Amino acid sequence: MLQEKQSPVKLEHAGLDENTRNMLQQLKIVTVIGSGTMGNGICHVFAQSGFNVHMMDINQAAMDKALVTIGKNMDRQVAKNTLTEADKTAALANISTYTDMAEAVKDADIIIEAATENIDLKIKIFQELDKLAPERAILATNTSSISITRIGSYTKRPGKVVGMHFMNPVPVMKLVEIINGYATDAQVTQTVYDLSKYLGKVPCVVNDYPGFISNRILMPLINEAILSLQEGVAGVEEIDTIMKLGMAHPMGPLQLADFIGLDTCYSIMNVLHMGFGNQKYAPATLLANMVQAGFLGVKSGEGFYKYTPGSKDLVVSERFKSKQWKM
Ligand SMILES: NC(=O)c1ccc[n+]([C@@H]2O[C@H](COP(=O)([O-])OP(=O)(O)OC[C@H]3O[C@@H](n4cnc5c(N)ncnc54)[C@H](O)[C@@H]3O)[C@@H](O)[C@H]2O)c1
Repeated sequence: MLQEKQSPVKLEHAGLDENTRNMLQQLKIVTVIGSGTMGNGICHVFAQSGFNVHMMDINQAAMDKALVTIGKNMDRQVAKNTLTEADKTAALANISTYTDMAEAVKDADIIIEAATENIDLKIKIFQELDKLAPERAILATNTSSISITRIGSYTKRPGKVVGMHFMNPVPVMKLVEIINGYATDAQVTQTVYDLSKYLGKVPCVVNDYPGFISNRILMPLINEAILSLQEGVAGVEEIDTIMKLGMAHPMGPLQLADFIGLDTCYSIMNVLHMGFGNQKYAPATLLANMVQAGFLGVKSGEGFYKYTPGSKDLVVSERFKSKQWKM
């Protein structure tokens, strides 16, 4: 298929020369909208790289939890000698929390939205950001699947709207998938590309199609694993073991789904299903049922596995235990 628009980023020129580093240092204030699984990790990496981070969430308790998580994750880095205690203290001091969006974004140079994966919510947030953020601010979204072009079309600055898709867990995972919306300015894509490098990440630029590259390929894999479980082809442990040991995946697809959040997986499958209009992307009924019943994986304490605070054991949920193969 013909690409309407080629990536504007000149990869061979993307090394961080002094000018680029100076330009990036002008981006002083980074606002992160949403402090859940991804938001806390994004705040972590920016704070650790010396940015002034404004963490914003409608839920103060979520931000309190996020700060504890960031502290614990930095402790792990200190234990591994990849961060000093002094750097940890400085990084934590770079983060301030807000429940008021106007306050959180009024001085922001770049905003990274990492709120719940829901198109109506994201449109509402971007309309507000467009009104409240300085004109110069880049409006990036960490969405896993929603069209950047569509989100941008609800703002008066579609050229400044771009996808900056971090991976989970953000402090550990190297990749940032950068999504070049149809109307995104080349300079904005380039800035976000350079910024990702500055954070020590490896950016890859892709164009704006449902699921981009990462989730267009990953989510149908996860959905197929859930369909296999639903059809009784194999149990949770067998499916994950086959993919781990047979395909050298570090984590089985069902465990990964629990880790990502089954609600997020369900939303992404719906975006692929609607975006391509192809039945092959229809979400598994078991996935829909689990989400509707509140079994969302790690974040709710149970999905395909049962999670007990303080325990690292991988225990298959009682609901699926009878489906395991017993000799
Ligand atoms: N979980 C993953 O593995 C993963 C990976 C990559 C990208 N993403 C994407 O990142 C985004 C966030 O996902 P998550 O897993 O962190 O979700 P999450 O459910 O863990 O956290 C979402 C947070 O957004 C907050 N929120 C909701 N409405 C808000 C609003 N109007 N203003 C400010 N905050 C609001 C919620 O209170 C919550 O704390 C989604 O777009 C998701 O697709 C997730």
